[in-house]
Amino acid sequence: MGYTYLVVNNKYIVKKIEKKNDHLSISWGDNFKSKYHFLWLRDNCPSAIHPTANMRVFNILTVSKKIFPKKINLNQNQLDIDWSEGNHKSKFNLQWLRNHCYTEINNKKYNSPYIFWDSNLKKNFSKIKLNHNDIISNDSYLKKWLKLLHSHGFAIIKNGPTKKKSGFRILKRISHHRETFFGTPFEVINIPKPNNTAYTAQALRNHTDLPYFEYAPGYQFLHCLVNNATGGKSSVVDGFAVANYLRKKEKKIYKLLTETYVKFKDTDYTQKAIRVLHSPIITLTKDNDFNDIRFSMAAMGTIDVNPKKMKKFYDAYQFFASLLQNNKFKIDFRLEAGDIFCFNNRRVLHGRTEFDPNSGNRHLQGYYVERDEIIARLNYFNKVKV
Ligand code: OGA
Ligand code: ZN
Repeated sequence: MGYTYLVVNNKYIVKKIEKKNDHLSISWGDNFKSKYHFLWLRDNCPSAIHPTANMRVFNILTVSKKIFPKKINLNQNQLDIDWSEGNHKSKFNLQWLRNHCYTEINNKKYNSPYIFWDSNLKKNFSKIKLNHNDIISNDSYLKKWLKLLHSHGFAIIKNGPTKKKSGFRILKRISHHRETFFGTPFEVINIPKPNNTAYTAQALRNHTDLPYFEYAPGYQFLHCLVNNATGGKSSVVDGFAVANYLRKKEKKIYKLLTETYVKFKDTDYTQKAIRVLHSPIITLTKDNDFNDIRFSMAAMGTIDVNPKKMKKFYDAYQFFASLLQNNKFKIDFRLEAGDIFCFNNRRVLHGRTEFDPNSGNRHLQGYYVERDEIIARLNYFNKVKV
């Protein structure tokens, strides 16, 4: 059966609605055709959602898979359904139905939020710099910062305070921090009997932090309190850009790095814990976009891949390592007191050159925040519909 309504070229107006075997078929004013399966409709009845908690209270087990609309009726911008079970009526807003049309959602081509960069970004370095107090006092700057972190995975906050723990203030503009056994903030300073190579004056090759965690911290914030020692220059490289280069130009290497499980580990002598994780160095999302990069020569365990694959793996690993240090991709810069170097720790690698601890002081304080928190706040500012 079908009803035909007045034709207006408006995507929220229903031109035609038909009851099929297991779904309603709706033709909209812009001629787009949507499918709405009966169980999906029942599950998404507005009454299924708690009015303040915004969570589903409806239990899918209270209806059978045979449920169907006994009666449907359109009035203005509403679709009414009388269900065959439970003596239940649903009232759907047509705009909501169209906005949640999963035919349309699944037709859409995936758009990556990431903007890859290489050493050319150094020419536009002012683009990734933001002023501390602007972010503190102004939501539009906060949004700009979050956007930059999400798209480029990297920003430098200038003119921040230099008091210990003062990094908390700007992080609280986002959300809570991610705790680790290093404490928050962690002190990046040259100490005797270091439990981590970061706590020496040695160079740190470009790496991601804590790759031995099942869920490595999403963002890292290195707040520079003092940096007047000789050396200790910072480096940064877009791991996704390098992975993308491999995806395009070195398909075999790319395949190995996305499929081979390698060992990451931490055996910090101050901890009563042994941390071991096997993961590929590059992981992907359901959309085949990059999920994360885990790379740290320092935190790499003794590799235990199949002997048949070991040589090939090492070739790929070494090649990736060489690109991550390559001038085509990496940017060198110097952190100044009051700077906060912010980066997506599951995308962007960071490092430093050796410094001379006798020539002056160098003290950074580090913080971690989950990637979820950055994205969720950005969604909030963008009024993302879910
Ligand atoms: C770290 C680190 C870099 C630096 O603490 O994880 O990489 O510049 N520090 O000291
Ligand atoms: Zn680090």
